[in-house]
Formats: sequence, structure tokens, C-alpha cells
Amino acid sequence: MRVLVTGGAGFIGSHAVEALTARGHEAVVFDVRTDPAADVRDPVAVARAVAGVDAVCHQAAMVGLGAGFGDAAEYVSRNDLGTAVLLAAMAEAGVRRLVLAGSMVVYGEGRYVCPRDGVVRPGPRAVADLDAGRFEPRCPVCGAEPAPGLVGEDAPADPRNVYATTKLAQEHLAAAWARSTGGSAVSLRYHNVYGPRMPRDTPYAGVASFFRSALARGKAPRVFEDGRQRRDFVHVRDVAAANVVALEAGSAPGALTVYNTGSGEPHTVGEMARALADAHGGPAPVVTGEYRLGDVRHITADSSRLRTELGWKPEVGFQEGMREFAASG
Ligand SMILES: NC(=O)c1ccc[n+]([C@@H]2O[C@H](COP(=O)([O-])OP(=O)(O)OC[C@H]3O[C@@H](n4cnc5c(N)ncnc54)[C@H](O)[C@@H]3O)[C@@H](O)[C@H]2O)c1
Ligand SMILES: [Zn+2]
Repeated sequence: MRVLVTGGAGFIGSHAVEALTARGHEAVVFDVRTDPAADVRDPVAVARAVAGVDAVCHQAAMVGLGAGFGDAAEYVSRNDLGTAVLLAAMAEAGVRRLVLAGSMVVYGEGRYVCPRDGVVRPGPRAVADLDAGRFEPRCPVCGAEPAPGLVGEDAPADPRNVYATTKLAQEHLAAAWARSTGGSAVSLRYHNVYGPRMPRDTPYAGVASFFRSALARGKAPRVFEDGRQRRDFVHVRDVAAANVVALEAGSAPGALTVYNTGSGEPHTVGEMARALADAHGGPAPVVTGEYRLGDVRHITADSSRLRTELGWKPEVGFQEGMREFAASG
């Protein structure tokens, strides 16, 4: 297949390009980082890029939590306007296959089980609780501490910040495109992706990147909250492989199919900091009790649908992947 990879010069996109090429596909990079004219918001450039491709792997986006609400228009512009321009060009050119870089952030706080009230969905955590070091979300009914569970694809969306909102809107646009054109659309809702070429520590980077940069400066990784927040760290090569299987398989025409894309092995942020510090030879992480408003406490997905329906299987284990990441540039 000839596949247009938007954001193909970025962290995940560049691995997707490598994985596609290794499988004998032709990957065409469209990324404003390497070509100022390759902006997904530019209808003329996008129309030229989609001509003659069999599928689009849409990774281009502005990522991360950002530096406050001032970034909102830029997120919406790059992520949602960009996706709309891309989908319109695909509709026009007759390109009927899309794989979108989705995100777990669309779930917000996710799924919890209260011993008394069953499955509940806690709202955003209160500043007073966070200030007092009470990091676990509360049951919205009885106030007890519910246990985090695995989030399935049919869990209701609950985006908690601008970035999350734009990632959800991308999916809605993709679903509308699929209905309107009969195209096949897949959203891979990535968990916390890490690995070689992960972006450096800016307000837009992931936590593994902050820790690695601190270690490289000889500083202890600073772990927020109490370090027991749970995530699913999935290796970038496994995410690239998921894109390839989704592009090859396609999906039901006329609809958006979503797949959680995680390792299936949740770890705490504290464990991740320790694994990186060990691999680096210290210093040991410190737990600071700081927090970022808008962060959710636990997000762990159930990624079994991707395994059973598309036969994808993550290959890079946590310790091995963190060792490699600690050593990579
Ligand atoms: N890294 C993660 O943990 C993670 C988790 C969930 C979802 N995602 C999604 O995966 C995708 C790739 O993210 P990444 O981590 O590789 O980030 P990245 O910043 O390394 O890659 C994004 C790429 O998109 C390009 N881009 C941005 N705006 C563009 C525009 N208007 N036109 C053309 N190119 C543009 C950038 O130049 C960059 O190379 C994004 O859609 C992101 O939302 C990432
Ligand atoms: Zn309860």
C-alpha cells in the first residue's frame, strides 16, 4: 500500500514509517516539521499529498497538556481543523482508509468500582483534596475510595482538558467522514507511549521524558502526587506495529472502530521512575506531592479487543523497554 503518514517526522509517526516500510509498504511523510509547506490545515498541500495514496495514517497533532488555556485555539486548529481539512481532501480524492492516532485521554478518569455503588465515574478531583494530599478520586455517590478498573472502548467519553477535547473531536470527525463516504476509519487510542525519539521535556511531553531528562542532568526524577497513579506504558514500536495491522486490516466500512492500544500491564508512575533511575544508575526518584490540575489519577485500558480482533500483540516488556529508553538519545 501507499500510505500517507501525517506527522511522519514525529515520535510515533517516524516509527510508523519504519514499520510500514519494513512490511513492504510505501510510506509518504507529510509533516510541517520537515517541510513548512506540509501543514494538514492547508487544503492545497493536503489535496496534493492524498492524491494516489491507498490509506492515511494520521499522526499529526499538537500533543500534551500544554501550558495553560492560552493554547486552546492552536490545539483546535492543528488537531481538529487539520483533521477536517485532511478528511475533506480524502473524501474528494476517493481515499477510503484511515487510521487515526487516538488517545486514552478521551476517557477522563475512567472506570472505577465502588464497593457499595458498583461501577462509578468520579468527576475531576477537588483542589482542596489535592492540596491535602488526598489523590485518590472519590465515589460520586458515597464519597468512598473506589478501586480503579480497566477501561473498555465503550466507556463514555469524558475529556478533561483542551487536548483531550480535540482528540475526541478528531474521532467524531472521522466517524462523520466514514458515514458520509463509506470509508473505513480506525482510532487507536494510545496509552502512554514511550521509547526512542520521544520528544524532550516541554510542557507537551510525556512523563517518561521528564524523568529521563532529569537523570541525564544527574538529577533525581521528581514524581508528582504520591507516585501511585497508574498508567499503561506502551512501547513506540508496539504502537507502530498496531498502526500497520490496522492499516492492513481496515475495518467495517461506513463507521469508526476504536481500539485501546496499551501494553495490558499497568504500572505506577513511581515504578516507571524507579525503572528508569535503575537503568540509568541513579539518582533515585523523589516523590514530591505536587500535582498538575487536569491530570487524571489512574488510566488503564483494556486492550484485549485489539489483540483478539487484529491479532496485535505487544512485544516490548516494561523493564526491557525502560532500559532501552534510559539509554537512548
Ligand atoms: N505520545 C503519546 O504518548 C501519545 C498518546 C496518545 C496519543 N498520541 C497521539 O499520537 C500522535 C503522534 O504524537 P507524538 O507523540 O508522535 O508527537 P510528536 O509531536 O512527536 O509528533 C507529532 C508530529 O505532528 C507534526 N504536526 C503538528 N502539527 C502539524 C500540522 N499542522 N501539519 C503537519 N504536521 C503537523 C509535528 O511536526 C510532529 O512531527 C498525535 O496525534 C498524538 O495526539 C500520542
Ligand atoms: Zn460509593
